[in-house]
Amino acid sequence: MKFLVTGSAGLIGSQVTKDLTLENHKVYSCYHDNKPIHGNPLYFDLTNQNKIIRTIQEIKPDSIIHLAAMTNVDQCETQQKLAYLINTKSTEILAKQAAKLDAFFVYVSTDYIFDGRRGKYSEDDSTNPLGYYGKSKFKAEEALNKLASSWCIARTSTPFGIHLNKTSFPIWIKENLEAKKEIPVLVDQFTSPTYVPNLSKMLIEIAKRQISGILHTAGSSRISRYELAKLVSEKLHLDKKLLKPTQINEMTWNAQRPRDSSLDVSKATEILNEKPQTIQYSLNLLIDEILKK
Ligand SMILES: NC(=O)c1ccc[n+]([C@@H]2O[C@H](COP(=O)([O-])OP(=O)(O)OC[C@H]3O[C@@H](n4cnc5c(N)ncnc54)[C@H](OP(=O)(O)O)[C@@H]3O)[C@@H](O)[C@H]2O)c1
Repeated sequence: MKFLVTGSAGLIGSQVTKDLTLENHKVYSCYHDNKPIHGNPLYFDLTNQNKIIRTIQEIKPDSIIHLAAMTNVDQCETQQKLAYLINTKSTEILAKQAAKLDAFFVYVSTDYIFDGRRGKYSEDDSTNPLGYYGKSKFKAEEALNKLASSWCIARTSTPFGIHLNKTSFPIWIKENLEAKKEIPVLVDQFTSPTYVPNLSKMLIEIAKRQISGILHTAGSSRISRYELAKLVSEKLHLDKKLLKPTQINEMTWNAQRPRDSSLDVSKATEILNEKPQTIQYSLNLLIDEILKK
């Protein structure tokens, strides 16, 4: 198959392009500032609408996995126009072009479209994003909902894994504890941490089987940042006394975050061959990966 992947050098995109290449697909890896390692690199600025249209028409992919986004939640709050262009408008344009070519469109969305008052959200639960990042991603979901053509909204939560220059949460914990630094860790923020290799396989399966609709593609465990940090420290035999329990209301963020944006993954567990993994299982795999390096 011919795939076009946006955000191909990002935390999730680098794994997706690697896995697709290993499966011998033709992969066009779109990037902005950082050139990807896997696939055919293709410079692509999501704020340039004409370039998006021309690129899709030239490549004519069978499937698009759209991962590129302005992911810095606080930056989205202060630069809302740019966040709208990158996160909402470009998704709408890409999806329309995909529909014209009859290409299957996988849009990776976020748990931050929920307000976090309840947690364990299912695909049918009502949304209420607290900050502009979540709003801009949800507006993109709404644009997709208006298109009749084949698409999947794959929502994920706190992706983590090994990346050349992106430090995901468990790696941040490891690095700080190894450096014997005391770090603040939230006791009252809960998510469904998702191991990137597990997510990548779920996204590729969705694209290949053309599973349409909304699907929660996240890890299967609901856990607080603090409990997750404790697990990492225990598994790596690091000093957990350096983890300083902290509350959300002590944080000085620009954007408000949901307290409990954990996702119910029963639908994905039922229909996908690649099942959402528990945090224990995923962390063991991450540690194996770290030890192999
Ligand atoms: N990280 C999370 O906590 C999280 C949680 C839930 C959902 N998600 C969603 O998952 C997706 C992937 O996230 P990630 O963690 O892999 O993000 P990431 O590592 O921050 O990667 C984002 C990618 O977007 C690209 N990008 C940004 N601005 C662009 C522009 N103007 N034109 C073209 N490309 C641009 C960047 O390209 P360059 O590097 O080349 O500049 C980067 O590769 C996003 O849609 C995000 O909303 C993330």
